[in-house]
Parts: sequence; structure tokens; C-alpha cells
Amino acid sequence: MTGVFVTIEGPDGAGKTSAIKKLERMLKKNLQVDLIVTREPGGIPIAEKIRQIILDPKNMEMDERTEALLYAAARRQHLIEKILPALEKNTFVLCDRFVDSSLAYQGAGRKIGVEAVASINQFATEGLTPDLTLYLDVDPETGLNRIQKGRTQAELDRLDQESAVFHQRVQHEYLKLAEQFPERIVTINARKGLDQVVTECYQVIKQKYADKFHS
Ligand SMILES: Nc1ncnc2c1ncn2[C@@H]1O[C@H](COP(=O)(O)OP(=O)(O)O)[C@@H](O)[C@H]1O
Ligand SMILES: [Mg+2]
Repeated sequence: MTGVFVTIEGPDGAGKTSAIKKLERMLKKNLQVDLIVTREPGGIPIAEKIRQIILDPKNMEMDERTEALLYAAARRQHLIEKILPALEKNTFVLCDRFVDSSLAYQGAGRKIGVEAVASINQFATEGLTPDLTLYLDVDPETGLNRIQKGRTQAELDRLDQESAVFHQRVQHEYLKLAEQFPERIVTINARKGLDQVVTECYQVIKQKYADKFHS
């Protein structure tokens, strides 16, 4: 496989989606190779249907491990239909969230256990790991504050004390992963302004994959 697989990770409100939008424009202009920007569930029909099942509020009886398996199933289909074919064609793939999100949110956040979630994802991905992961680090207060802006009181009420603790476990796990895999995961301080965050992400990518850029 000749393509490059880069993922963006981080807590809610870290700025992943905002940063990717800007990075897409910069990379499109400066990369010599094709670029695709994608996100889980990747907009492919099977993964969209799985996502609807996960998010359907009527599915109150959904078990946490069932949920983890459904995310892994959607991930696999996205990989098979979209990411792998692109990588085989030498395409540069930038993806909003991947396995690290499941480790942080379901393994640590929901307390299923990081090892258990890692093992079902190993099955789903057959060990395909991103070449580079940009981890946008923010504390939960900053991230949630950004997201809460513009939301109604009813929406804000759901972000109770329990969810603050949940989000602390998520950030803690991301930081642990970054420590565990320093050769893959680069931590970016995402409390800075968006332009600064984007510049740092771009520089990390350009430095690592200089041969893929116009000179
Ligand atoms: N570095 C930043 N500083 C301040 N606000 C930001 C920054 N990055 C993103 N935002 C704002 O925070 C909110 C969430 O950003 P978003 O990109 O959707 O985050 P994510 O995809 O990580 O959940 C948006 O309103 C966005 O404009
Ligand atoms: Mg987002």
C-alpha cells in the first residue's frame, strides 16, 4: 500500500472538524497526490445504517458492548469500501476519528475496558493502524464550552456532572495513548486559536511526508 493514512483525534469540541476543513484546502493545493477527507461512519450506506441503530433513542436497551461491536462493524465497512481502496491508489487519506476514539470513549469513557475494545477493533481492522495521528488536546471544560455555545437550555441540561467525569476519562485515555505510541501520535495543544492549531497540524504532516508535497 502506497497511500498515507492520517487520522485526527480528540475530545468533543477539540476542533477536529473545523481543523480538517482548513487542512483539506491547504493539502489539496500543496499535495502532489490525490486527497480524500472522510469521517466515521464514512457516508457509506451500510455504515450509515449501523450508525442509525446506534443513535436511535428508541434503542434504550442497547448494551455497551453491543454498541462497541456496532462501531467496530461500521468502521470495518468504511475501511473496506473507502479507506483501503484509496490507500491502494496512493491517495492521501485524512479521517476524522478512528480506533483511538473507541478506545477513549467506549474503553475508558464507558468503562468497557481499553483492552477489550482494542481486541474487537483489531479484528475489525486486521491491524491496520494510521501512519500518523494528530491528537487535538483540550480539557473537557474548554471543549464542552465551545460546543455548548449556541445550544438551547434543554440541550445544555443533558451535559450534567456525570458527563463531565465521562469526558475527563476520555481525555485521560487519549493522553495515555499518546504516551504509549509516541511514534504515531502527535499531540497538538488545541486550546490555542484554530489557525495556530491548523498551522501546527499542517507542519507535522508536511515534515513527515515532504516527498508527497510539491516542492
Ligand atoms: N481552536 C479553537 N478555538 C476556539 N474555538 C474553536 C477552536 N476550534 C474549534 N472551535 C469551535 O468549537 C466548536 C467545535 O468545533 P468542532 O470543529 O466541531 O470540534 P470537534 O469536531 O472536535 O468536536 C465550533 O463552534 C468551532 O467553531
Ligand atoms: Mg467533529
